[in-house]
Amino acid sequence: MIRVAILGSTGSIGCSALEVIRRHPEQYDVTTLAANRNVDALAGQVSEFRPKKAVICDSSPKLPTANKATKWERGIESIVEAAADPDVDIVLNALVGAVGLRPTLTALEAGHRVALANKESLVAGGALVVAAAESGEGEVVPIDSEHSAILQCMQGSDDKDLQRITLTASGGPFRGYSKADLDKVKATEALQHPTWNMGAKITVDSATLANKALEVIEAHFLYGLDYDRIEAVVHPQSVIHSFVEFVDGSVLAQLGFPNMELPILYALSYPHRLDDALLRTYDPVRLSPLTFEDIDHEAFPMYALGVEAGRRSGCAPAVYNAGNEIAVEAFLEDRIRFPEMPEVVERTMDRIGIAAPRDLIDVISVDQEARKVSAEEVARCAQSIGKKS
Ligand SMILES: NC(=O)c1ccc[n+]([C@@H]2O[C@H](COP(=O)([O-])OP(=O)(O)OC[C@H]3O[C@@H](n4cnc5c(N)ncnc54)[C@H](OP(=O)(O)O)[C@@H]3O)[C@@H](O)[C@H]2O)c1
Repeated sequence: MIRVAILGSTGSIGCSALEVIRRHPEQYDVTTLAANRNVDALAGQVSEFRPKKAVICDSSPKLPTANKATKWERGIESIVEAAADPDVDIVLNALVGAVGLRPTLTALEAGHRVALANKESLVAGGALVVAAAESGEGEVVPIDSEHSAILQCMQGSDDKDLQRITLTASGGPFRGYSKADLDKVKATEALQHPTWNMGAKITVDSATLANKALEVIEAHFLYGLDYDRIEAVVHPQSVIHSFVEFVDGSVLAQLGFPNMELPILYALSYPHRLDDALLRTYDPVRLSPLTFEDIDHEAFPMYALGVEAGRRSGCAPAVYNAGNEIAVEAFLEDRIRFPEMPEVVERTMDRIGIAAPRDLIDVISVDQEARKVSAEEVARCAQSIGKKS
């Protein structure tokens, strides 16, 4: 039995992970479930999966009383502790935001596999995550479909034979919109993703294309390629998840329905594959045609800003990530307009130094500073259009 701790179990990835595990009870045992504040959903999962431990991060909700099987705990420290639990084999990190970085590092330091959905871990603290994975027994296996595709295409090949990676982007709900059109869009429209069903933050990131920039940075740290060799292309059908080009010019791609259960299953079973009859069979005729377009940089500046943050390196990706988290929250609360999100992030990047972080404390401190500065920038946008900040 492989013992799995699921952090962020009540979210979109967390629920898909439990669905995968539900179909493979002979392979996987859930030892920990953790969420932010959704006690009711977590309690339902606890009664089905009977983990040793259930954690709620937020301080407000009342916790259910412990039963014989499950101990209930509260707070981020309990989540970090759960990531280090020696009685765990895989920590599936499906938290959203830079809050996921500490559990990722702790799990790696404890020698665990981190099945990583929480891309913000690698964006905010990529160098630390790579160092933690390289210095011990721990490993990162990505859940993001694009990075899972790359891992699958790389099987049997040497890293040195990798020439270039092309990540695909759906283009989000506003593909084809002009800059002027985007001025009027609302959060409810941004949350209508054409091909993927995901949590609110990543859905907005997909609409601005910040998500693709976060994934470029993630690919840089996972596969050790410089930024000149990582590209992104819009592929509205979301069927090809990435292209991998080798030094001899050969290009491999991984295809599948836009459904996160396959990359989750692969991250759990890697380097093996598990039979799963419920995952839909690929049908090339029904899924044709497959089309590709360039990114519209004028309408979606968040992509180039994020890649620029990656190239600047040091703390710049952490600043970009924190600024983006604050901007997305403000947009979802209707405090800023869609085109103001990249403006907030750009001004935050301009205002904060980017010296390379020496350790987690440096990353946390720059993350906090960037959140403060971007909140000021949000307030400035809100004032300029006469809204409440
Ligand atoms: N969804 C996808 O298809 C997809 C695909 C690729 C990558 N990802 C990445 O996977 C991660 C999760 O995405 P998602 O779409 O599953 O997000 P989501 O639906 O918003 O779920 C987030 C989960 O994290 C918990 N959480 C949020 N803030 C927390 C905090 N401060 N402390 C502890 N727990 C917290 C939430 O608990 P509550 O329910 O209590 O709020 C929930 O369980 C993100 O990094 C995203 O970029 C997602």
